[in-house]
Amino acid sequence: MEKTFFMIKPDGVRRGLVGEVLHRIERRGFKIEKLEMRMATPELLEKHYEDLVDRPFFPQIVDFMTSGPLITGVLSGNQVIGSWRTMMGATNPKEALPGTIRGDYAQAPDEGGATFNVVHGSDSPESAEREISLWFGE
Ligand code: TYD
Repeated sequence: MEKTFFMIKPDGVRRGLVGEVLHRIERRGFKIEKLEMRMATPELLEKHYEDLVDRPFFPQIVDFMTSGPLITGVLSGNQVIGSWRTMMGATNPKEALPGTIRGDYAQAPDEGGATFNVVHGSDSPESAEREISLWFGE
């Protein structure tokens, strides 16, 4: 049984998509182990996105991710890490297939603009462990 870390980003919370996203998770049979609404801080985001801190779009990520409350949580289930990534769809919503969360609820960014793609999920067992410990301190 795997565990993964997930978020509903500020665009998802603002647009009233929390229920829709949680519904998809529950319908799939994954267990919501932890769930918390909170404000992200630039310091947490620098750790969370440690591989992206040097990218030119990083300031936009921080502005977006601190623009309102977000939902953080932990899911458990068989192969939940990869399955949740599949449910989310591609990072760029233009590439995200219909039926995925990003493919159903998000638009591609403007040229040079920030990507508002509703959800996050850890991309490997190592990231899952690191992100759960970062956001939930365990
Ligand atoms: P990344 O971890 O590569 O994608 P994912 O969220 O699918 O795991 O990137 C993190 C976030 O950074 C992504 O959801 C949106 C933003 N981002 C951009 O705005 N532009 C980009 O070119 C990339 C790669 C990411």
